[in-house]
Amino acid sequence: MASVKFASGENIPLEMHKVRIVQKLFLPPVEARLKAVTEAGNNTFLLRNRDVFMDMLTDSGVNAMSDQQLAAMMVADDAYAGSATYERLEAKLQEIFGLKYVLPAHQGRACENILAQVLVTPGTIVPMNYHFTTTKAHIVLNGGSVEELITEEGLAVTSDQPFKGDMDIAKLEALIAAHGADKIAFVRMEAGTNLIGGQPISLDNLTEIRRVCDQNGLILVLDASLLADNLYFIKVRDPNCRDLSIAEITRRIADLCDIIYFSARKLGCARGGGICIRDEALYRRMRGLVPLYEGFLTYGGMSIREIEALTVGLDETMDEDMISQGPLFIAYMVDELVKRGVPVITPAGGLGCHIDVLRFLDHVPQAQYPAGALASALYIASGVRGMERGSLSEQRNPDGSEVYSNMELLRLAMPRRVFTLSQVKYAVDRIDWLYKNRSLVGGLVFVEEPEILRFFYGRLAPVGDWQEKLVAKFRADFGDSL
Ligand code: F0G
Repeated sequence: MASVKFASGENIPLEMHKVRIVQKLFLPPVEARLKAVTEAGNNTFLLRNRDVFMDMLTDSGVNAMSDQQLAAMMVADDAYAGSATYERLEAKLQEIFGLKYVLPAHQGRACENILAQVLVTPGTIVPMNYHFTTTKAHIVLNGGSVEELITEEGLAVTSDQPFKGDMDIAKLEALIAAHGADKIAFVRMEAGTNLIGGQPISLDNLTEIRRVCDQNGLILVLDASLLADNLYFIKVRDPNCRDLSIAEITRRIADLCDIIYFSARKLGCARGGGICIRDEALYRRMRGLVPLYEGFLTYGGMSIREIEALTVGLDETMDEDMISQGPLFIAYMVDELVKRGVPVITPAGGLGCHIDVLRFLDHVPQAQYPAGALASALYIASGVRGMERGSLSEQRNPDGSEVYSNMELLRLAMPRRVFTLSQVKYAVDRIDWLYKNRSLVGGLVFVEEPEILRFFYGRLAPVGDWQEKLVAKFRADFGDSL
């Protein structure tokens, strides 16, 4: 997005693209929304998309694609082995990251499976700025454990710290001193730190981590799934990078890493994933797992058309106009909510707008999953589907007790270039209404709780009849409006 000033003085993110393919949406009436969310066990993952007006569940695999990406899909070279399409992807990744070896995978967690199987052994530790659900699951499955070393500021809900995803270097050094470098499987940094609100990491922090890794002979792995947002934030928030191009910033980051992996459902606005590796020996150790779990080395479980789209998408990620759209729309939404007093994570990050549910629903105990309850309430109030990112997304301790997460968040993802500003205004309006009526919202209890990754398909019921009361209040306030 270019910086275009409005005569009115209003701060409006102006799209540097036009919409040429559209999908019709439906907004069911509030009574039908209550019925749909009840049938879905109050779990927004289980809603049918046709009952959803704005799908803000995730940005994963649902970003808008460009005309150039769609055109490239038509010239894909379909072959089990040796496809020219794959060669184009490999060359593009080598060009932007400068790492010699590339392995394809069907999505981000598939990369994590391969990395964990090769690098994690029982009893080892993976220090990271913050965990992601699938990352942690794979590390634990291989007998390792995760240590989150985010700076204290990273967990402060409201802040003006520009790089809340940074790792606390002193904590990293203390961890290595306490356990010994041989107990560290690798050090992982996540760009655009997902679970703390899409918060970026800084180039300076990564440089420091590289220094510590070099001193201790450790491998530095970057999860670049949310790199696009992070690149934009480095460009606009780090004064030392203001005059660098996005491609130059990307290269400075990559030069510090031994391994870069990503979900192409996010990075590159396509579907799939990949691992880029500097060291040949490491590459050889990982390579054998690709045909076993993914597919042959020149498609890795991805459709060849998606690989073409990804190659173009990665190239377009080097364009500031393209990668700024998400962060600027999110900043608009966050600013509008802050103006109305709604508690949200600040500063605005990438990925989406994150509501601070511990403050929004301060009367609902964590044992009753307030972020899940708010996700259900917001769907009833608006047809907007968000994602619970709080205690419900955690895994119980082996003794069955709950793990209460540091933050209870309702994530409203902003898939890139998908929504219009009036749709974002609608979401803000309904969240504002819900905030004013927050005392009506109650908690949830599990009626069906899976053992692993329970948030994906667990079913819950409301505590009491708060949902019917919410619907009645909606009708009283909005009349016959949808
Ligand atoms: N790493 C990060 C930082 C992610 O955000 C994700 C996925 C993955 C790895 C796994 O990638 O889905 O392609 O297997 N995040 C999605 C989300 C699911 O909704 O935030 P995947």
